[in-house]
Amino acid sequence: MLYQSKITGVGHYVPDNVVTNDDLSKLIDTNDEWITERTGIKERRFANIAKGETTSYMGTKAAELAIERAGIDKNDIDFIIFATLSPDFYFPGPGVLVQKQLGIKEVGALDVRNQCSGFVYGLSVADQFIKTGMYKNILLIGSELHSGGLDMTTRGRGVSVIFGDGAGAVVVSRASENEKGILSTHMHSEGQYAEELALIGPSTSHWVPQIIQENDPENISYYPYMNGNFVFKHAVVRFSEVIIEALQTNNKAVQDIDLLIPHQANLRISQFIQKKMGMRDDQVFNNIMKYGNTTAASIPIAMSEAWEQGRLNSGDLVCLAAFGSGFTWASALLHW
Ligand code: UT7
Repeated sequence: MLYQSKITGVGHYVPDNVVTNDDLSKLIDTNDEWITERTGIKERRFANIAKGETTSYMGTKAAELAIERAGIDKNDIDFIIFATLSPDFYFPGPGVLVQKQLGIKEVGALDVRNQCSGFVYGLSVADQFIKTGMYKNILLIGSELHSGGLDMTTRGRGVSVIFGDGAGAVVVSRASENEKGILSTHMHSEGQYAEELALIGPSTSHWVPQIIQENDPENISYYPYMNGNFVFKHAVVRFSEVIIEALQTNNKAVQDIDLLIPHQANLRISQFIQKKMGMRDDQVFNNIMKYGNTTAASIPIAMSEAWEQGRLNSGDLVCLAAFGSGFTWASALLHW
């Protein structure tokens, strides 16, 4: 027998420290006009690492809220899935740190490495485990801490101005028999473009001792690199494709979507997709203006805010869609 899964609780946590475009202009050669026009971003949050605001800490805070809103006890969690590209440690991943910080029994903890698509990939994994009956309540977290590792020079300004820190979490639970919940999930990748949006080292191809030994000021492999225009062009195509794939699988039309929650990559990308698909403003949720691009955290943060604003109601048809480094892209269609 296959069970249905549904999202029963959502939560998010963002650092208090608001960094506006004007604040960034004091650090690097940029300005509010450029950032607003190209990305729609007005401000983002930067974590206070010295005060313990790490990727796992933010994830745990978001998780506590999601668990509370799901109306379950933390010890009802059977499994943890943590999506991030900015873990506390190279290893182990932050899933086990959340298990420790929540102080829950020794459940399995899985770390997902799919960047901007990480949350939707994680949701697909959670859905399968619930469907088979293996688990009843899965905690899924997307959390990112970008600010500590950005190239805050003119060289890196095309990348550094778009990213922000924060975390979102959901509880995915077994639905009762008459509930629909998650209808389908869809995942794709195209590894030939792996290096178009990547942080290459430190890694096994760029070990730290090697970087130190080479002492090459041109070797900045420890900063994220993005071929912005190239990524943008692929994003608008793949976002649309994967949303249509989710709709066609379920015999639904664009007009049936109550809320599309796209990964908050760039407001211009969301607006492009909205226009291309003929969607109304009230069908698309955007909050990148306040948080920047928070990679794996952006969809659960958006989902949590949408829920708080009363924009996710029982029975609503909700579409999640993401595209990013890998390239990877993914979507999910669900009944709230
Ligand atoms: O989340 C996962 C996936 N990521 C994305 O989907 C991001 C996709 N890409 C983008 O959103 C856009 O490519 C960016 C917003 C990142 C960049 O916008 P763009 O229109 O592609 O700008 P560009 O990199 O082509 O740069 C245009 C100009 C350049 O100057 P010149 O050569 O025309 O004189 C840059 O040097 O803008 C300059 N520039 C800046 N100026 C002020 C680049 N970054 C900045 C900046 N402030 N921060």
